[in-house]
Amino acid sequence: MISETAWEAGEFSATRRGGRLLFGRMYEDAEIESRLFRGRSRVFCIASAGCTALRLARDDEDHEVVACDINPVQLAYARQRGQGGARKTGAAERVMAQARRMARLAGWHPSRLDEFLRMSDPAGQLAFWKQHLDTRRFRHGFDLLLSPRWLRLVYAPPFLAFLPADFGALLRARLERGIARHPNAANPFAWALFHGSVPWPEPSRSRAVEWVGGDAAAYLESCPPAWFDAFTLSNILDGATSGYRVRLAQAVRRAARPGALVVMRSFAEPSGKRVRNCAAEDRSLLWGRVEVLTVLDDHFSFDA
Ligand SMILES: C[S@@+](CC[C@H](N)C(=O)[O-])C[C@H]1O[C@@H](n2cnc3c(N)ncnc32)[C@H](O)[C@@H]1O
Repeated sequence: MISETAWEAGEFSATRRGGRLLFGRMYEDAEIESRLFRGRSRVFCIASAGCTALRLARDDEDHEVVACDINPVQLAYARQRGQGGARKTGAAERVMAQARRMARLAGWHPSRLDEFLRMSDPAGQLAFWKQHLDTRRFRHGFDLLLSPRWLRLVYAPPFLAFLPADFGALLRARLERGIARHPNAANPFAWALFHGSVPWPEPSRSRAVEWVGGDAAAYLESCPPAWFDAFTLSNILDGATSGYRVRLAQAVRRAARPGALVVMRSFAEPSGKRVRNCAAEDRSLLWGRVEVLTVLDDHFSFDA
C-alpha cells in the first residue's frame, strides 16, 4: 500500500529506517499561535519536538492542548520535554550543523556570526548581512545545497515534490525578510539557525499536555465532532499525497467548532489565494506559508 504521507516512515530519506529523533527543537514560532488562539479553549497541535504544545500550555495560556505525532520517537521526546527532560540533538540539527561548517568556507567566521546575532536593530542587521554574510560564495553554496540534485541525496521524493526549482534563492529571500524585521539578539530561532544553540534558558515546563500517538487525520476522525476551536498543523502536508490533503481537511472540518482557526505552515511559496499569511511574522525566518484559515463551512480545504 502506498503511504498517504512520507512522514509515516519517521525518516527524511527513503533509504533509511526510522527510529531516530528527527527534530530536537521546532523551527516554528508559536508566539504566532499564542496571539491568534487567545480565548480559545481546545487546541490541537502537532507534537514534533514539543515546543509549540508546551508554549501553548504555559500557565499564562488558557487552553487545553492535545499534541499528536505519527512518529513515536518524536512523541516520546516531546512528552519527556514536558516533564523537564533535556533537549537533544535531532537529525535536522545535524544537517544544519554540517551546513554551518560549510558556511565557514564562505567567510562565516564564528566571531562575525556572534557580532551579527548580538545585534538588535533590524536595519543594521540587514546592512551587516549584506556586507559580511550574504557573500557570493555563500549564495552559490547555499543555492547548490538546496538544489534538487543535492536535496535528493538527503530527502525522499515526497518531501521535495512541492518545492520550487529556485528554492535556494527563495529561502535566502525569506532569511533577508526576517533579518530586516526581527531583532536577532532576542530571537531564539536566529540563534538556533546560525549558531546551533540559544544562549539563554528556554522554558519547557508547562501545564499538562495530552500527548497522542498516530496520524493527525485518524485522530481527528475519531475525536468527538466540533471538539477543537484551534489547530496548528506544522507543515505536515509537505510530504503528503493530495488524497491525504483532502482527508485532513475533512477531518479538521468534522473536529472543528464553527469559526475554529487553523494554522498551516509550508516551505512552498504562498498559494496566491486571498489567505492570511503570517510567514513574515514567524521569527524562524524559513517559511513560505504560515496560513491562517477559518473553518466556516463544509467547503473548508487546504490549497496545494
Ligand atoms: C511536519 S514535521 C516538520 C518539523 C517542524 N517544521 C518543526 O519545526 O518541528 C513535524 C512533525 O510532524 C509529524 N507529522 C508529520 N505528519 C504527521 C501526521 N500526518 N500526523 C501526525 N504527525 C505528523 C512528524 O513526525 C514530525 O515529528
